[in-house]
Formats: sequence, C-alpha cells, structure tokens
Amino acid sequence: MGTYEEIFRSSVEDREGFWLRATESLDWYKAPTRALDESNPPFYRWFPDGELNISHNALDRHVDAGRGEQAALVYDSPVTGTKRTYTYAQLRDEVATFAGVLRDLGVGYGDRVVLYMPMVPEAAIAMLACARLGAIHSVVFGGFAAKELAVRIDDAAPKVMVSASCGIEGKRVIEYKPLLDKAIELSTHKPERNVVLQRPQAEASMGEKDVDWAEAVRTATPADPVPVRSTDPLYILYTSGTTGKPKGVVRDTGGYATALNWSMPNVYDVGPGEAMFTASDVGWVVGHSYIVYAPLLAGATTVLYEGKPVGTPDAGQFWRVIAENDVTSMFTAPTAFRAIKKEDPDGTFTKDYDLSKLKYLFLAGERLDPETYRWASELLGIPVIDHWWQTETGWPIAADPAGIELLEIKPGSPTRPMPGWDVQVLDTDGKPVEAGTDGAIVVKLPMPPGSLLTLWNDDERFVQSYMSAFSGYYLTGDGGHLDGDGYVFVMGRTDDVINVAGHRLSTGGMEEVLAGHADVAECAVIGVADTMKGQIPRGFVVLKSGVDADADGYEEKLRGELVEMVRDQIGAVASLKDVAVVPALPKTRSGKILRKTMRGIADGHDEPVPSTIDDASVLDTLRPVLRRE
Ligand code: COA
Ligand code: AMP
Repeated sequence: MGTYEEIFRSSVEDREGFWLRATESLDWYKAPTRALDESNPPFYRWFPDGELNISHNALDRHVDAGRGEQAALVYDSPVTGTKRTYTYAQLRDEVATFAGVLRDLGVGYGDRVVLYMPMVPEAAIAMLACARLGAIHSVVFGGFAAKELAVRIDDAAPKVMVSASCGIEGKRVIEYKPLLDKAIELSTHKPERNVVLQRPQAEASMGEKDVDWAEAVRTATPADPVPVRSTDPLYILYTSGTTGKPKGVVRDTGGYATALNWSMPNVYDVGPGEAMFTASDVGWVVGHSYIVYAPLLAGATTVLYEGKPVGTPDAGQFWRVIAENDVTSMFTAPTAFRAIKKEDPDGTFTKDYDLSKLKYLFLAGERLDPETYRWASELLGIPVIDHWWQTETGWPIAADPAGIELLEIKPGSPTRPMPGWDVQVLDTDGKPVEAGTDGAIVVKLPMPPGSLLTLWNDDERFVQSYMSAFSGYYLTGDGGHLDGDGYVFVMGRTDDVINVAGHRLSTGGMEEVLAGHADVAECAVIGVADTMKGQIPRGFVVLKSGVDADADGYEEKLRGELVEMVRDQIGAVASLKDVAVVPALPKTRSGKILRKTMRGIADGHDEPVPSTIDDASVLDTLRPVLRRE
C-alpha cells in the first residue's frame, strides 16, 4: 500500500507495472505479459495478449475459493414484497443455466443480446450469462420508449432479446412486453428470439418467437465460461450524445475487470464478504459497474433494489436495506437524497434502523450540490464522497479513495483523479489554464483500463466526439477547473447533454421530437436547474406561419401533444413537462440558437448578451418567459 500521492505517482511513472500488478488478483486463462497496446492511437487496448472470462471471475472463482455459501446478490423489492438471497454457488448455477438457454438459442462468442429489463436478479443473471459465452450484452434502461429501444436494436443487431413481462414503477405496473413487441415492429433488424421473464404482476401474451424464461431454464444444461481476449467487447451501453442518435459505448473485458477490481478495495473500501448497496438501475453505467460486475469481482455482496428512495412505501427504505444487509458502502445519485430530504427533512426514519456498519456514502451521476452534501453528512455522520465519472469511463475519474486514505473533502469537488487519469483543463485554443480557471476538462491519452474502446459500429464518431477537439486528449464534455491542490471541480456539461434525476439525456434528441410536430417551425430545449432533479428540460417552440395560435385552447392542446410525443418517442424518463410557445428564438448572425444564453437567464444569472446576437429584441421578449415572470 502507500498514500494516495504515492499510488497515483506509481500509476503515472510505472504504468505497465502498476496495471499488470492489478491484473494479478484475477484469474486469467492466459495472463497478460504486457499492459498497453499503443500501436494505433487513439484506439488503445489493454492487456492485448491476456485471456479471461469475467463471469468466471465474478462467480466460479469465488465458489472455487470456498465462498460458495456466501451471499452474492440480495434482491430487495419493496414494490413486490420480495426479498431473495443468492449465494455465490446459486448465482453461478443460475448464470450457467441461463447461459445454456442462450447457447441453445444460438448465441455464441461475439453475438449481441439486447436486454430490456426491470430491476430483477434475472437482469444481472442474463448479463453474466452473456459474458460467460463471450456474447456482448446491451442493456436498455426500462424508462426508454419503444422507439428508443428500436434504435438500439438496429444498431446492435442482436441475435436474441431478453425481457420481462413488466416492471414496477412505484405503484404502477409497466408492461414491458408490448413495448418490446412495438420496438421489434419498428426496427429493421429482427432478433431471432425473445426470452421473456413472466412476472405475476402482469403476464405477457407470448408469440411465435417468444421463449418463456422459466420453461427454458427447466430443460437447459449449464454452460461453462469460455475464454475471451481481454480486448474483446463485454458490452455495449448506449448513452445520450448531442443528437437523437445514441452513442454505443463499447467496453472491453480485461481492462474493465481489472479497473473495477482495483476500485473496490481502494475507492469504495469494500472487500470480500462485505456488502455494497448501489441504488441505481442496471440500465445505467453505475448499475453495470457497481450493482453487477465490481461487487461480484470483489467477492462482496451486492444489493439489487427494486424500488424508489421514497414512496415505496416510505423514505426509510434505503436505511432499512443498509441495516438488514450490514451494508458498509452505499452508492447512489444526489437526486435520491434530495428526494429523501424533501420527504423526511429531519431524517426521522434513520432512527428506526441500525446504520452503525455504514462507513461511507458515495454519490455520483450529477453535481453534488453543497446543501445536499451537508444534509447527508450531518444526518449520517460518515464521510459523504462525491465522485465523478461517465458512461464512457466505466469507473471514477475522480474520487476520494476511501480504501487508501480519506483525503480532505472540499464540498463541490469530487476530490482528486484516480490512478491513470491525467486530468487537465484546457482553454478553447487547447492551452492549459491556470489553477482555478474554468475550461474544458480533458484527460490526456491514454486513459487507464476500463474506459471505452470505441463507439459500436462507429470508430469515426468515436474520434470525432471525443478525440478530435484537442489532439492527444479525451474530451469529457464537462467544464470546470482544478484548484491549486489538484482537486477537480466539475461545473456542468459544455454540450447539449443534460442530467435529469441522474439520468443522462440529450436535449438535441428532444428537439428532434418537437420539430416533428406539424405546427412547429423551430424549437429549442434547454436544461434548467431544478431543486429536486438537478436539471429538468424546458422546451420553446415557434409555430409555423398560418397556425392559428389564438384559437380557443390551442396552446394547451399543443403543449399536451408535444409532451406526449416526447414521452412516447423517448420515454417518461425524459421528464419534459414544460413547453412554451414563443414568437422567435434568439440566434447568432450565423443562425445558431443561443441555448447557453437562454439557460443562463432561465437559471436566474445575469447573462451577458452575446456580441454575435442577430436581433437583441428577440431575447428581450423571451426574457420574462425564461424567468417565468
Ligand atoms: N421504467 C419505466 N418508467 C420509468 C423508469 C423505468 N425503469 N424509471 C423512471 N420512469 C418514469 C417514472 O415513473 C416517471 O414517470 P412519470 O413522469 O409518469 O411520473 C418518469 O420516468 C421520470 O422518472 P424520474 O426522473 O426517475 O422521476 P421520479 O419522480 O419517478 O423519481 C427520483 C425521482 C429522484 C426518486 C428517482 O429519479 C430516483 O430514484 N433517482 C435515483 C437516481 C438514479 O437511479 N440515478 C441513475 C444513475 S446513478
Ligand atoms: P453518465 O454517463 O450518465 O454517467 O453521466 C455522466 C455525466 O454526469 C458527466 O459527464 C457529468 O456531467 C455528470 N456527472 C457525473 N458525476 C458527477 C459529479 N460527481 N459531479 C458533477 N457531474 C457529474
């Protein structure tokens, strides 16, 4: 061990040695002899001659080492009144059997399988089963609508889909199967078969290509893990970019396994036999990394929670889960804590539970506002650790490495870069800025293991989105600064990506939907600050000439239609509820909509009028609407 400074320095000065040593705690069919292949930048590859299987490492390895009877996964579902524990031996068997099902359906090495699943253990089982066969999974968040699912099906071209009859959202049952059927109807690529987990809350009607999960596992024979190259894709995870077309982030196997396995004791301070509770969703990167893969790689117990922080049925559920499972590290998004604070400002529910085992609360996914930080720290009396990462990076870029040493916490900062992350801040000309000055946050290449390989089917977009703004650097898309002590401060996205309740969404995607309405001439969607969700989208539409906007009830009807279109085409998770009809949108002389200026005004800032504005009177007219005056 060593101090943070020593460990970070060793990751920079002896990159090969540092990461090769980190691979030693995993099982390899062929242990890597070198760490990084730099022959084709910016397409770096980790452990190019290594071979392993991540499902073996997450399950069989622990059973072989005598942890078979230890809890691997606890499914806690207040919305269905279910609690079920899988030991490592049981989880390995379920995964092996489901891998057998997939194999019988023709799934093998390199095939894609798209998962559209609620928060049930079968989601994790299906992910690990794909990995066991060397197949590539792509989990699509259940809050996305059929059309979004269809876009992902077309891009990933899966052989098989895995879904469930329904998900449970608070008190509502959401039928997934009709959404799955509609997505397949909309997509050009047609998967060969769909495995459907029937849930008693809403049984799905099955078609010719549908396979009942329970029936299929009854007759399947278990499949052994197959060796794959370290550099082989483990999964594709779609995330929002600036346009409506999602980016298929491709993750490797060996680099990811190594980075996650390193992060568990060093960042999260979770070791074998300890319990971690990550309240997120398997559809997001946080769920992939810290509900499924990392805790299992570490031989820990992971809690898979199907419920909300509040309302299922109360604001004490997180505390109950922590107490019942002796959780030592909890991880969620700040928005979940804001929801609890709103419901139970004095934190009275904590008194009902024994939280003495809880050592840390980790928060990420959006900016941690100092007020939420203070409330959570005072309530729990433990370190509350803000850490910063992205779907693309797979694990934290910056954190307070609790397992190494707890560095001083500066509210508003996710602390310092983790090993291998050479974080810098550049101005628009690509020159480093002084400490304390805001700019584009970038990472000097190569990035450490675990970060994205490329975008699925689109090396060109990978280079153009991330690698071309500043040669030799990965563009995070976040703006902010480093202070004199090397602390990172992330102030927000510099592109059209927004973060709503910790969910990453594209305003460009929402604009594409609004623009599809017959009466809309042009539109803009911006993310504005929201005390609960961090940000929420607001839409502004300009009508086509000839539309009779004065007709009785017209605006209300239009608003309803637009909100419904976004819900229908992107999903409820987009949370676009506020659309205003305006006479014009402020633009530059070259015709670019001044979204940043609009956002600043809506957030109540004293926003300067850009010198490039075409017609300042348009902005004057819009100002009261933006400020809701
Ligand atoms: N399937 C179907 N619908 C879903 C869904 C899913 N998996 N997840 C969310 N939705 C729906 C919600 O029901 C809601 O619908 P509504 O507009 O009809 O009410 C809508 O999408 C918006 O959801 P959300 O933004 O999550 O708001 P919420 O009010 O339902 O819940 C929080 C707010 C804070 C409680 C919730 O966002 C939360 O628990 N967040 C935790 C953070 C998190 O998981 N972040 C992920 C990355 S770490
Ligand atoms: P996602 O890819 O969904 O994980 O979203 C990544 C984005 O969330 C980042 O680019 C940031 O804009 C934001 N984000 C994540 N964690 C933090 C954090 N700790 N502080 C500020 N922003 C964050």
